[in-house]
Amino acid sequence: MVANDILIFNEIPKGKPVPGQTTVKKQEEFDLDQSLPDGAILVKTLALSLDPYMRGRMRDESIESYVPALKLHAPIENFAVVEVLRAGENAKFQKGQKLYGYSKFQNYSVIPKEQAESLRVLENKEGLPWTTWVGSAGMPGQTAWYGLKFIGKPQKGETVFVSGAMGPVGQVTIALAHAAGCKVIASAGSEEKIKYLREELKVECAFNYKTEDPNKVLADWNQKEGRPFSIYVDNVSGAQLTAALAHIARRGRIVAIGSVVDYHGEQHGIEGVFQVVAKELTWEGFLVLNRMTPELFEQFYAEVPPALASGKFARPKEHVTIGLDNGEAFAALFDSEASNFGKAVYSFE
Ligand SMILES: NC(=O)c1ccc[n+]([C@@H]2O[C@H](COP(=O)([O-])OP(=O)(O)OC[C@H]3O[C@@H](n4cnc5c(N)ncnc54)[C@H](OP(=O)(O)O)[C@@H]3O)[C@@H](O)[C@H]2O)c1
Repeated sequence: MVANDILIFNEIPKGKPVPGQTTVKKQEEFDLDQSLPDGAILVKTLALSLDPYMRGRMRDESIESYVPALKLHAPIENFAVVEVLRAGENAKFQKGQKLYGYSKFQNYSVIPKEQAESLRVLENKEGLPWTTWVGSAGMPGQTAWYGLKFIGKPQKGETVFVSGAMGPVGQVTIALAHAAGCKVIASAGSEEKIKYLREELKVECAFNYKTEDPNKVLADWNQKEGRPFSIYVDNVSGAQLTAALAHIARRGRIVAIGSVVDYHGEQHGIEGVFQVVAKELTWEGFLVLNRMTPELFEQFYAEVPPALASGKFARPKEHVTIGLDNGEAFAALFDSEASNFGKAVYSFE
């Protein structure tokens, strides 16, 4: 028997998630020698991803949405890297393999056959930390990659504006934009993040959306460059989207990825929507899980993890919590005062 920490979805939040209330850690005993159902595998968790979309899963199960609701009083689940301790009767897996996909927020789990078969074996020839495989080299990285490549369609010499820039989607967007020969305007919510964006990620313009007016920053940039920025990768919506609509170039592209300002109930109006018509903008939202085909996954894995490993893309900044907490690491995603500095992950190594 070993001790198994488990993070439980305890209560549907009214606004922002509250650690110890919305989510509660408990400990149970786990039998590493238990008999496994047909095709099930027994795994140890190495890394777990904390993603803003999980807030939307914390709802009443009767409310329909694009992802199923989490089960109340059951373990939280999300993207993970796990190590196979016992492959049981499942010939597809071997002890010691590292797998990427959905798993429960607990140290040890038994993954049923059908779910196990959906997991991807990570060879990790690149030697990246396991946490990176749920971040820049995982679902958030795929989101940035798909959004910029297929909706943003960057051309050399253009400028890309990205909000939520220190999260994993933002960081990969910056790397891809630079690799495409574009300049980058990036926004985030603290001076520490702005310094990092300028000094480590080498963005051409970084601003703190809490202390600076995005309208002024974007207008000044356009004037200085002599041409407006033409792509906005929108992770947050709200006032920054309003400013982007006002200052983006004709025939610009808005990649609608997320709307962090709206995730805990309050809705924020957007002004200037007519600019979509007047400037003939493309404004497209997408769900990465519906867009990534097997061929696109292979393209992504061939391109992004090697670029992260070789240093062509900046080393991902990760906000690592060692072991499970009561949900503080998750709540920080929505706390603009004390938010995560980099990709939020749990590590168990
Ligand atoms: N469409 C898809 O398929 C898809 C897939 C993955 C992710 N997403 C979306 O992509 C976006 C970025 O995800 P991520 O994992 O990279 O998140 P993240 O940046 O790690 O976390 C969210 C960030 O939002 C910022 N924030 C919090 N409150 C804010 C506010 N009121 N206004 C502006 N920013 C605020 C915080 O940073 P600051 O310090 O900068 O405030 C926080 O770090 C999210 O909207 C997510 O839901 C979409």
